[in-house]
Amino acid sequence: MTTDVPTIEWTGDALRLLDQTVLPHRVEFLAVQDVDALVDAIRRLVVRGAPALGVAGAFGVAIAVRQAAREGWDGAGRDAAIARVRKARPTAVNLAAGVDRVLPFVARGAGAVAAEAQALLDEDVRGNRAIGAFGADWILARTGDRPLRVLTHCNAGSLATAGWGTALGVVRELHGRGRVEIVYADETRPLLQGARLTAWELDQAGIPCVVQADGAAPSTILRGLVDVAVIGADRIAANGDTANKIGSVGVALACREAGIPLVVAAPWSTVDLALPDGAGVPIEERDAGEILAWGGARTAPERVGAYNPAFDVTPARLVTALVTETGVLEVAAGATPSAAAGPRRARD
Ligand code: MRU
Repeated sequence: MTTDVPTIEWTGDALRLLDQTVLPHRVEFLAVQDVDALVDAIRRLVVRGAPALGVAGAFGVAIAVRQAAREGWDGAGRDAAIARVRKARPTAVNLAAGVDRVLPFVARGAGAVAAEAQALLDEDVRGNRAIGAFGADWILARTGDRPLRVLTHCNAGSLATAGWGTALGVVRELHGRGRVEIVYADETRPLLQGARLTAWELDQAGIPCVVQADGAAPSTILRGLVDVAVIGADRIAANGDTANKIGSVGVALACREAGIPLVVAAPWSTVDLALPDGAGVPIEERDAGEILAWGGARTAPERVGAYNPAFDVTPARLVTALVTETGVLEVAAGATPSAAAGPRRARD
């Protein structure tokens, strides 16, 4: 199963989002009918995770087209609103890609845009199932028969996608084959997606897991307690450099040192072939309050500021395997997305 509650759903006149800011304590939904509300929901991480942002962006165009008709905007006003959705967050390439995918349907009206966005949503779920199967096959071919101890960072599950998940799709598949002993879910500072969301998803699916502080992850790996790390991605450059939630680089370095695989699981839409390497990935810097305070109370001295990058870039040489819905690239061994793009285009 995915989660019993859909992360993102088009109701015909609104985008219904599972509010991830209040999980795991409350299951609440937000019905979004205008562009301001959608941009705000994306920035506050009501909806989050690269593939889910792609789907939200695509439906966001339908929202903008409907609002334009309702409020009498001209084409320029509508297009400016669409551009605001497209830029609501910078790092995950999927948001812009989701918007761009449905733009050719704008002239045919909101219904046509929403239909194409729904096709993207459905493809995402199908793609995640394929990622799960490819990833599990690849991992099990290298780890033998024993039950696995898997580490993951942030949330790349059903909640970060249209369903099933990317990194957690691999974990779900491994669990379905009876091969998961335990999942270490990094809590993922500053907003605790791992503790709040990944642990919630794993618990719902009956997959054994423990939450650990981000700072514990490299040590857990070096102590030999982890067989494989599986993470998601927000943008992958042509050479395989991978942007993911801040803290992923430490996991990757420890995996290299310990000699265990770091597996990145992401749809091909997360690959940005226009970027030759990770130096060009726009890294979102978020509000200082996310790390200077806790539960509404200031934790750091009043005069001290913050540096709060939300993502980091793992160099391709540390990415053992990239699993997409089309198969597995052994990136560190030289099978980069750019090298794969030629044959992929020929197949398409
Ligand atoms: O800031 P978020 O929660 O949108 O970031 C999402 C991530 O970075 C996740 O780690 C994930 O791997 C990428 S989306 C499947």
